[in-house]
Amino acid sequence: MAGMYRPDQANPAGRRPRLVVILVVAFFALQLLVFRVFRGAPSPGAPAAAVSHVPVLPRRDADDSGCGGGQVYVYDLPPVFNEDLLSQCDALAPMYSLCPYLANDGLGFPAKGTNLSGILPAELVGSWYSSDQFALEHIVHRRLLSHRCRTTDPARATAFFVPFYAGLAVGRHLWATNATDADRDKDCVALLSWLHAQPYYKRSHGWDHFIALGRITWDFRRSPDGGWGGSFLIMPGLANITRLVIERDPWDAMDVGIPYPTGFHPRTADDVRVWQQYAASRPRPKLFAFAGAPRSAIKGDFRALLLGECQAAGDACGALDCGEGRCIKQNELVMQLFLGARFCLQPRGDSFTRRSLFDCMVAGAVPVLFWRRSAYLQYAWYVQVGNDHEGEWSVFIDRDELRAGNVTIRGVLAAIPEAQVQQMRKRLVEMIPKLIYSAAGKEGLGDGMMDAVDVMINGMGRRVAEQRRSWSRL
Ligand SMILES: *[C@@H]1O[C@H](CO)[C@@H](O)[C@H](O)[C@H]1NC(C)=O
Ligand SMILES: *[C@@H]1O[C@H](CO)[C@@H](O)[C@H](O)[C@H]1NC(C)=O
Ligand SMILES: *[C@@H]1O[C@H](CO)[C@@H](O)[C@H](O)[C@H]1NC(C)=O
Ligand SMILES: *[C@@H]1O[C@H](CO)[C@@H](O)[C@H](O)[C@H]1NC(C)=O
Repeated sequence: MAGMYRPDQANPAGRRPRLVVILVVAFFALQLLVFRVFRGAPSPGAPAAAVSHVPVLPRRDADDSGCGGGQVYVYDLPPVFNEDLLSQCDALAPMYSLCPYLANDGLGFPAKGTNLSGILPAELVGSWYSSDQFALEHIVHRRLLSHRCRTTDPARATAFFVPFYAGLAVGRHLWATNATDADRDKDCVALLSWLHAQPYYKRSHGWDHFIALGRITWDFRRSPDGGWGGSFLIMPGLANITRLVIERDPWDAMDVGIPYPTGFHPRTADDVRVWQQYAASRPRPKLFAFAGAPRSAIKGDFRALLLGECQAAGDACGALDCGEGRCIKQNELVMQLFLGARFCLQPRGDSFTRRSLFDCMVAGAVPVLFWRRSAYLQYAWYVQVGNDHEGEWSVFIDRDELRAGNVTIRGVLAAIPEAQVQQMRKRLVEMIPKLIYSAAGKEGLGDGMMDAVDVMINGMGRRVAEQRRSWSRL
């Protein structure tokens, strides 16, 4: 499981005297006893007077609208924390304007009339967009606002969503040479001071609050000695808030991995089924495919090695050079490649995770992974992870064996029996709904089909219940 084997934490307790262990156990047993005896009894004078009107548990009235994970309250933040950022869309990223990608509630511009529509089944052209990962904060916010499990009454909420577009806020300063550390953190500091004054924040100290981030966790973890990024995720004021993020820090339990957005944003379960059928039945002439930009300047770059493997495999492999943002601007090339391949290679890039993993899975190609942190230690709410399940929807290849020349990609993949490949593809295709951000309205996709945001709401419901012991007795 994630976070269980941090190397620098290996072993500490082993050599401590036994007495300490006994004392610790006794202490917790006593705590448990005290908790059991006093649970339910109002503890005199405990909750701060300012928040005494705030109920500790969400009020559960008759119509819960089938929201098993509970209901979500979406904060109405001052616009400086979200809407104002959208209006600066041409100045948020260095290489290109985000404006087209933030259109249509963050889904981007429609596939209709673009090259992307050329590779889609006709009835699904309206379900695809040119989407960008940085729009995720906006996508999640919009979808939660119209979600059937949203409540406008905080007293009924199980979880509280803070729609601060932190990735957009920090992104505009990441490349600006004249930006200071204080510039990168200014909005985050202001947001926390606003939030800490809210009664429902005070009730739980943030333990039932969450935020979504469209940039990787490392963009918000600047070391105290300076360096890359903002420091939002290491600010003490954010300590108790759950961060749903496209790449998590595997050693921070407050980070929860969520899918990168792909271009697929269907409205109904029927639309999803049409796509599932399409992905399941495509001819796949290529054994494997790789879309990536090699960093030729880096000696021993793993992506260059994979490109070499691809070339050596000849017709069995398809490659796409993603240099110059090609795979973002021309997503149809990526989807076409993956729809025609049985496997797709997913090495780490500049960070451990990539949008490409989700393009690959949505296309029904089986991902080939080389780092556990690229998926298994990331997306536990979304994909089955852990040693028991490797091989169900993915293939893991030991990168050192590959580097040593002991195995080849083609050799490993060609040795997997066709029946097993089909089984993996079937499993993947079943997983598609949970990996996508639907454009469904209040009723959701329908037929009980869950998308990535539905999974998020249920996940937060479970998490808040688990974490309640961190605060409900304060
Ligand atoms: C669409 O495809 C055509 C033919 O492959 C290509 O010439 C053109 O540049 C593409 N347009 C865009 C916007 O990518
Ligand atoms: C950095 O420079 C740009 C352009 O010269 C300017 O618009 C911006 O306000 C400056 N930012 C800061 C934080 O000084
Ligand atoms: C986090 O929660 C703990 C109690 O579990 C509380 O003491 C602390 O003040 C909280 N931190 C913030 C920033 O709210
Ligand atoms: C590669 O194979 C050799 C010979 O069997 C073995 O000694 C070596 O440990 C292998 N390398 C890796 C990284 O597994």
